[in-house]
Amino acid sequence: MPLVPSYIKKLNSYKPGKPIGEVQRELGLENIIKLASNENPLGASPKALDAIQESLVESHRYPDASGYELRKKLSERFNVGINNVVLGAGSEGIMSTIMRTFLLSDDELISAENSFIGFRVLANASGKRIHWVPMDQHRYDLEAMADKITDYTKIIYIANPDNPMGTYITKKEFDTFYSHVPERVLIILDEAYFEFAHDLKDYPDSMTYRYDNVITLRSFSKAYGLGGIRIGYGFAHSDLINNLLKVKVPFEPSSLAQVAGLAALDDDEFLSRTLELNEKGMKYIKEELELLKVRFIPSIANFITTIWESETKATNLTNDLLEKGVIVRQLTAFGWPNYIRISIGLEEENHRFIESLKEIL
Ligand SMILES: Cc1ncc(COP(=O)(O)O)c(C=O)c1O
Repeated sequence: MPLVPSYIKKLNSYKPGKPIGEVQRELGLENIIKLASNENPLGASPKALDAIQESLVESHRYPDASGYELRKKLSERFNVGINNVVLGAGSEGIMSTIMRTFLLSDDELISAENSFIGFRVLANASGKRIHWVPMDQHRYDLEAMADKITDYTKIIYIANPDNPMGTYITKKEFDTFYSHVPERVLIILDEAYFEFAHDLKDYPDSMTYRYDNVITLRSFSKAYGLGGIRIGYGFAHSDLINNLLKVKVPFEPSSLAQVAGLAALDDDEFLSRTLELNEKGMKYIKEELELLKVRFIPSIANFITTIWESETKATNLTNDLLEKGVIVRQLTAFGWPNYIRISIGLEEENHRFIESLKEIL
């Protein structure tokens, strides 16, 4: 018996966007902006930060393993029972629990090729058969995904909106797709960016209809700026949640993550500022890209993906921007090497990105 399963051996480890410190060290630059990881440019929710400060003295205590307070608050906020809520170390933490809870040996998964890399890492590490369905015009091809359903299909993953494309599936598209999915198949609807999207009329906020086989995942990492704290949540039928609670790492999420989430939910002011800043920044960047005749994919999230004529062009551009202290994300690891994703930043950061791009072009 080999020590390492063959499906693990052939994986590559995940390479995230370059951290600011690394670029500072490598290039000797002081003033660097990072528009590479879809983080909140305003920082973290101030209410969450205060709550973390206050609870630091309790750091010697283990967290509430049941996550009672935060689950209760989420259940009230979203009008479901506490037994319909699960917490995790980020929504990725919950994805990992889902894989460990429900997958049996012959089970298969279906998702879009070159979509969210976090799911890809977990799916590949499960060693199961996965149908990676190519996107159609940078959107999930739900019809082609439905065609891949077999007796062995266990999990279908959809990021809505998608990262790295910023595109979304509409209510109508989801309803049609759902009618093809047997009840025994779980659908993970990853709504990590839902706060940025949910005002759109045709966006299918999955909390408005509760299906027994749909798990909704959401995150405090984006709209509330708590990516480094690792706190996410999910909603599903109580039978599913019950089983997830048996499998989740008992003391995740940490106490700091739980209090941060609780406080963030009350930080309406921060949330509105975040959404407003993003809307303005998105509008500005789109207009400037249009003027520069740069191709991009219309996005409803907090980032925008641009398309270049070749991988070399995208690599050179990413490096040239880096030389100017602007970190963006070339999407090679996602499978789109001639694409560059730019997270929407503060007003001055967006200006600096556009000015740098103009100089380079
Ligand atoms: C589509 C999508 N889902 C989930 C996540 C991860 O969220 P979390 O930080 O809550 O694990 C991200 C982060 O980039 C994402 O883009």
